[in-house]
Amino acid sequence: MDEKGLEFPTMVYDEGKVRFLAPVLPEGWEKAVSPSGMPVFFNPHSKLSRDMAVLAVRAYFDRKGIRICEPLAGCGVRGIRITVETGTVSKLVLNDINKFAYSLMRKNVEMAGLTDITEVYNLDANAFLAAHSSKRLRFDYVDVDPAGSPAPFLENAIRSCQSGGLLGVTATDLASLCGTDVPSCIRKYDAMPYMSPYSKEMAARILVGFVTRTAARVGMGISPVLTFYRRHYIRTFVRLTYGKTLAKESFKNIGWMFECKSCGNIQWSSYFEPFKLCEVCKSNPRVFGPLWLGELTSKDFALKMLGIVYEADMKDAYNLLRKISDELQTVPFYYRVDEIGKRLKSRVPKPADVVDRLHSLGFNASLTHFDGQGFKTDAPREVIERVFLKLTSSEA
Ligand SMILES: C[S@@+](CC[C@H](N)C(=O)[O-])C[C@H]1O[C@@H](n2cnc3c(N)ncnc32)[C@H](O)[C@@H]1O
Ligand SMILES: [Zn+2]
Repeated sequence: MDEKGLEFPTMVYDEGKVRFLAPVLPEGWEKAVSPSGMPVFFNPHSKLSRDMAVLAVRAYFDRKGIRICEPLAGCGVRGIRITVETGTVSKLVLNDINKFAYSLMRKNVEMAGLTDITEVYNLDANAFLAAHSSKRLRFDYVDVDPAGSPAPFLENAIRSCQSGGLLGVTATDLASLCGTDVPSCIRKYDAMPYMSPYSKEMAARILVGFVTRTAARVGMGISPVLTFYRRHYIRTFVRLTYGKTLAKESFKNIGWMFECKSCGNIQWSSYFEPFKLCEVCKSNPRVFGPLWLGELTSKDFALKMLGIVYEADMKDAYNLLRKISDELQTVPFYYRVDEIGKRLKSRVPKPADVVDRLHSLGFNASLTHFDGQGFKTDAPREVIERVFLKLTSSEA
């Protein structure tokens, strides 16, 4: 036991408006933190993810007295920050299977002065969530933040969320979702991923599609309010609403993506539509999905979050939200300038110049936070190629 009554060495951290204890970080943490070898997992690189959770809860709930829960809480900092920094929480419930995490969470709850409104559990997350699935015990906000895939916890997390509530989900298993490990994506998400220059958006769409299908199974519809990619993870926040009709409505946003190996054309179709031939060259394309083809983010919601980024140390969140709120939401997938340049054997223009030129021609277009080399547009392929050739020849 150390002098703080914990079984392992800890140090004091400050994040947002909260001071808390977490294990001393292992050597090399500046590059990456792995859960193995730490008595309780804490990753300082996930501050942005926690900032975004604080902002999302503040933007989503316009009333006080909400009940929130973190079923995989680690040292508890996420739930504690949401409670302290939003001022809207009347009940905080933290859980972690690790007994060291349990003692650390209790200590951190005490340090934050939240003992009266907090319950702390040391259970398997599925057992804990299932015990909170009856109407009276459900939460307004559930934050599923595993090291790896959220798939094993998703159905119980959805069942423990009130109708009209908000669910936050992280996936760090990008090798599966981005298509490096195809069998593992099929096993966990029941979806065929697409290893491509556009993998990051595909990963987000597979994840949101999986959340939709899981919610539909238990009679709930979803609507994503914010989805983003960052370095080692994808995170989405979705509104959950009970109702079979809403579940069916959400399902209309699920579909398939097709990539033509002959000409590189990408197209998509609804879940219920039959297999399509390439619209450009009539070849047989490869099929990926099922995935979410609707809006990944509500622009209004992103702008609302942007409006409440109130602290200097949320600069990262501010920059990300600015990019996301400018992003074209009505078109799934982006193009990469280097890919198009390679195909056209042309030089590579700046994505911002392509976007400006497409705007001047009357098309919708934007950069994308998924990829610094990417841009989104509803312009047809021929127009994009013309813009490319024009921009690269005028540079010559
Ligand atoms: C990525 S960490 C959580 C980090 C935390 N949300 C934060 O923002 O700092 C994932 C946590 O899940 C816990 N965990 C893993 N499997 C679990 C299970 N089946 N039930 C409950 N907790 C589990 C681990 O002990 C670990 O503390
Ligand atoms: Zn084709």
